[in-house]
Amino acid sequence: MSTFRHDGLARVKVRVMTPSRIRVARPRAVTLAIVAVLGLAGAAGLGALATTGPAVLPQGITGNPGVHPVSGRTIANVMSHAGADWLDRPERESEERPDRAVAALGLEPGAVVADLGAGSGYFTVRLARRVGPSGRVFAADIQPEMLSLLRTRLEREALSNVELVQSAEDDPRLPPRTFDLILMVDVYHELARPQLILSKLLASLKPGGRLVLLEYRKEDPAVPIRPEHKMSVAEARLELEAEGFQLDRVDSSLPRQHILIFRPAR
Ligand SMILES: C[S@@+](CC[C@H](N)C(=O)[O-])C[C@H]1O[C@@H](n2cnc3c(N)ncnc32)[C@H](O)[C@@H]1O
Repeated sequence: MSTFRHDGLARVKVRVMTPSRIRVARPRAVTLAIVAVLGLAGAAGLGALATTGPAVLPQGITGNPGVHPVSGRTIANVMSHAGADWLDRPERESEERPDRAVAALGLEPGAVVADLGAGSGYFTVRLARRVGPSGRVFAADIQPEMLSLLRTRLEREALSNVELVQSAEDDPRLPPRTFDLILMVDVYHELARPQLILSKLLASLKPGGRLVLLEYRKEDPAVPIRPEHKMSVAEARLELEAEGFQLDRVDSSLPRQHILIFRPAR
């Protein structure tokens, strides 16, 4: 019997062997065991892959997230805090142009923003500077280790307009009717419960608020990121419009990512 598993390295075909099969196919069994061990090492987040993406946690936080029920998209495993250095790599400036991305959001001083899946805070600090002391940023993540890295960064940068939020896989734990903008940078594709999260985010936006996703362009094979960590515009639109949002605009000014701007559907 054969099956496919998703892990940090690639889509690895693993043959599941019955005891009788092991007896008749010993040389092949050795090869397959090596493949399986490599696959498990990747799934355990041991292999940070510089050219194709960061280490990921084994099968999400609470289990293999599977596929999206509306689009059939394979949901990515959650990026591990063990790979947090990858989020702060210097090349990110030229690959992602974060200042241009934040400028494209058109945030006013005093705005209230959520950075959901904030990681080590690469975007949080840029958002905090942008909204200024009269504004607020809620930086939320499911991994306490990421929030701890973020806390250290905020202290280093002396920013006091950021609140840290420990999210759960099925609840971002953001307050209702609070946000002018909710941002997810390289996060949506790894939400294990995307439909549930979107329903909560809808309730957390102020009237007139926006939900913005930055996602690596799946349409572009030259973007060197594993396919399950990319999104196409069509996939994002299908999934978010099924949950009460409508696509307002796609900004294509970044080198590798879409800026997908959604609003609550009327
Ligand atoms: C690829 S990292 C991106 C981090 C950050 N946005 C950045 O661009 O540097 C994805 C982050 O999303 C977080 N995450 C995944 N699922 C989440 C969920 N359901 N709620 C909150 N955070 C989540 C992960 O823990 C991880 O820190």
